[in-house]
Amino acid sequence: MEELKRIEKTALTRAKKARTSQDVAQLRAEILGKKGALGTAMRSLGDVSPEERPKLGARINEVKSRIEEALDEAVTRIGVAERDSALASGRYDVTLPGRRMYPGAPHALRLIEDEVVRSLTPLGFTVATGPLVEHDWYNFEALNMPQDHPARDMHDTFFVGKNTVLRTHTSNTQIRTMLTRQPPVRVLAPGMVFRKDNLDATHSPVFHQIEGLWIDERATFADLKGVLKTLAIGLFGPEAQIRLRPSFFPFTEPSVEVDVRSPMLKKGLGWLEVLGAGMVHPAVLEYVGYDPEKVQGFAFGTGIERLAMLKYGIDDIRLLYENDLRFANQFASRAGS
Ligand code: DAH
Repeated sequence: MEELKRIEKTALTRAKKARTSQDVAQLRAEILGKKGALGTAMRSLGDVSPEERPKLGARINEVKSRIEEALDEAVTRIGVAERDSALASGRYDVTLPGRRMYPGAPHALRLIEDEVVRSLTPLGFTVATGPLVEHDWYNFEALNMPQDHPARDMHDTFFVGKNTVLRTHTSNTQIRTMLTRQPPVRVLAPGMVFRKDNLDATHSPVFHQIEGLWIDERATFADLKGVLKTLAIGLFGPEAQIRLRPSFFPFTEPSVEVDVRSPMLKKGLGWLEVLGAGMVHPAVLEYVGYDPEKVQGFAFGTGIERLAMLKYGIDDIRLLYENDLRFANQFASRAGS
């Protein structure tokens, strides 16, 4: 018992006096280690009488935990002191340059998609999405392109199953939207589409489109023109002009192709085709269970790659997919612009 008291007293005093983490480590080994003072005391338990043994054992444990506590306190105290003195002695050079951060840049395709959405949300459009692997019915049939319709030739389709395709356009989302909502409907549907093309400077088997759809009791061709003009200005600046040419799509009647021209565009002197659009065909409205006598509207669809290439003067579509940082980082300053 006497010996224990002595061990405790020295240990506590030395713990208080310890100045470095090595001091504490050494003290810990000397007292608590296998061959340390307390270890020896433990082993001497065998020499005492069986009546004395539990009392002495309990006492040893008490002493041990008090010493451990004192050592832990010392560690904390020394940690703080070491940091303070490191700071005071200027071991941290706050003038060293920081580690360089490389901020990301938005992808050109994302920029265009965002611009379309940002231009048209003030008109009440919200964003909708549809599946990439699609049933034939939503991709073709309900868009007024029955099985043997020649318009299907334009879409070199990847078939996944007999009646399942990788969607060839975002127009499938028109159908899915109208089947689940009642007019008024105003949606934008951006996303990936697939066509069986070989990758070259102007073609890719995977590309992106954005679709617009507006159905209401009275959504007219004049409204369509207004929306398209708003979109052109959003993408190509306040001086952008649009021109409509008659065209054909099975799911719209009448149908138009939309050209744009703007001084902002490198090729800005001439008209550039950017979009397909038209008044939603009554047959399509019937497919989704709308009454063509009561509601009408218009749709438009455009390729995001093509818009990006025109706007940013990109001459090879593959640049958009290759993740070359020298290319990608050129769009850094355009974030949120
Ligand atoms: N889906 C057409 C295509 O991929 C583009 C298109 C044209 C979409 C006219 C439309 C539209 O919504 O009205 O070629």
